[in-house]
Amino acid sequence: MTSRGKHGIEVLYDPSLNKSTAFTEAEKQALGLVGLVPDVTETEDLQLQRVMMQLGHKNTDLERYIYLINLLDHNETLFYRTVMSDPARFLPIVYDPTIGEACQKFGHIYRQPRGMYLSITRRGKVEEVLKNWPQKDVRFICVTDGGRILGLGDLGANGAGIPIGKLQLYTACAGVPPQYLLPMYLDAGTNNEHYLHDPLYLGLRRTRPATSELYSFVDEFVEAVQEVFPKCCIHFEDWTGADAVHLLQRYRDKYCVYNDDVQGTAGITLAGMINATKIKGTKLKDEKYLFLGAGSAAIGLANLLCSALVAQGMSLKEAQSRVYMFDINGLLEASRTDLLDFQKPYAHKHAPTRDFVAAIESIKPTTIIGVSTVGGAFNQKVVEAMSKINQRPVILALSNPTEKAECTPEQAYTWSKGKAIYAAGVQFAPVHYNGQTFLPGQANNFYIFPAVGMAIFATQSKRVTDEMFIEAGQAVADQVPPELLKQGLLYPLQSNVLETEIQTAARVAKLVFDSGLSRVTRPDDMVAFIRKHVYKPEYRTEARAGVAA
Ligand code: NAI
Repeated sequence: MTSRGKHGIEVLYDPSLNKSTAFTEAEKQALGLVGLVPDVTETEDLQLQRVMMQLGHKNTDLERYIYLINLLDHNETLFYRTVMSDPARFLPIVYDPTIGEACQKFGHIYRQPRGMYLSITRRGKVEEVLKNWPQKDVRFICVTDGGRILGLGDLGANGAGIPIGKLQLYTACAGVPPQYLLPMYLDAGTNNEHYLHDPLYLGLRRTRPATSELYSFVDEFVEAVQEVFPKCCIHFEDWTGADAVHLLQRYRDKYCVYNDDVQGTAGITLAGMINATKIKGTKLKDEKYLFLGAGSAAIGLANLLCSALVAQGMSLKEAQSRVYMFDINGLLEASRTDLLDFQKPYAHKHAPTRDFVAAIESIKPTTIIGVSTVGGAFNQKVVEAMSKINQRPVILALSNPTEKAECTPEQAYTWSKGKAIYAAGVQFAPVHYNGQTFLPGQANNFYIFPAVGMAIFATQSKRVTDEMFIEAGQAVADQVPPELLKQGLLYPLQSNVLETEIQTAARVAKLVFDSGLSRVTRPDDMVAFIRKHVYKPEYRTEARAGVAA
């Protein structure tokens, strides 16, 4: 008797089949496992208890991360059962902020291969390499070239931890079954001298190629995916800003692709902006926005925000006129000659300035959005300037990991004397100020991309559109109850993330059907349709494990 062609020790070495100490006597007999595992049959709850106890003995989140990845390598069901048992506790360990440190040390903490590693030296053979992946029906590839990992810059092959973590969130947050997910690192070299000289670095030891060479490699990859995995959606993650925007433009109308830094960030920030206007009693169209940072996250958000404003009846020009940006060289304004094509719509007539506070005083934004990768950039002067011109200044400090946040909630609430409406890209604890408790929300795209992913998975959508991210943002915003809005919370609580994302996925799926992009029959009940696709972290029944097969 075999389990999907596997028998005996092979079953224990397959993390999707391994039940460790939970095999029944019948399974042990049928699969040739007698004597290969302790002679007990534990419940999944008891196994979870052991995991929790062992995690309790770890001293740092990085150690907990390594432990959990090791668990995933051996027992996928128990890993997801653990993470899904308490998302608020485990998301910060398997993803932000721990993932930042895990990536920086990727070559040092490496244990086992996970996903695929495709080097530019394989050009001409990419299709052949993709065929080495054992799973034939891949629905999502999350791919990075390590060009801009979180706010940490070019990490090259160390960035491979990001697609691994992102795809775990598809499952943990929205229930996309893990067997359809493929993390991918495209290795085109790195300009990070530190890693180039690290003997334990796991990537090509060469600097990055010219953009044209990189893009022709990515072209071959994207085309090969269409051949090898025809139902696959490609999720681009953590490329440099210019590459992120250009590659999205290059493929979005031709293939099923999206860029989470551009579109996912935009969706989640839009959700926060919608809820900030609910707290203030205004409308999106009444607001004026100033970004610190004009890279992929800023441009993606500005474009999506403008699309949302246009959908509400504003002209595109008018919508763009509400959005200002400030980058490493100062305010984007019409006389600047160093701007990229996609930044120009946000460069308005204004005197040049490199002083962010002066820009606030002159532009008078109602909302500032930090996507600069510069921790502490929203200093006391910035917050005070915003508080002077706004009853309720909206301050979104989105850069991550934690030390890159443009300001902490404590700073925002203290410096604004409790007036700020604040969210960050990472999770911060509630803040007590002046007798009030403020709940800083986490503007993290894990509320968006797993839900959009689930909608794509269930509907087999042919394309990914901006409208899908606007709908996801609106759906996330709608799920924050008024009593939490009152405490300044812009985003739903993490403890209920799966249910939140099922509701969001159902709304996005409806849009997919309405837009004629689906490849499956439209169901009557969209939420039930999504639920039907949701992965549950439970061991397969004996029949599924092959005992009765
Ligand atoms: P990027 O590299 O494309 O852009 C960074 C921008 O910041 C550039 O325009 C650069 O000129 C500007 N900048 C750098 N130093 C500056 C300074 N001293 N003053 C003013 N501007 C400065 O990066 P991307 O993709 O736009 O991401 C930016 C940050 O946003 C990262 O930390 C990333 O982790 C974070 N992010 C957060 C997300 C969330 O869900 N909270 C999602 C995506 C990104």
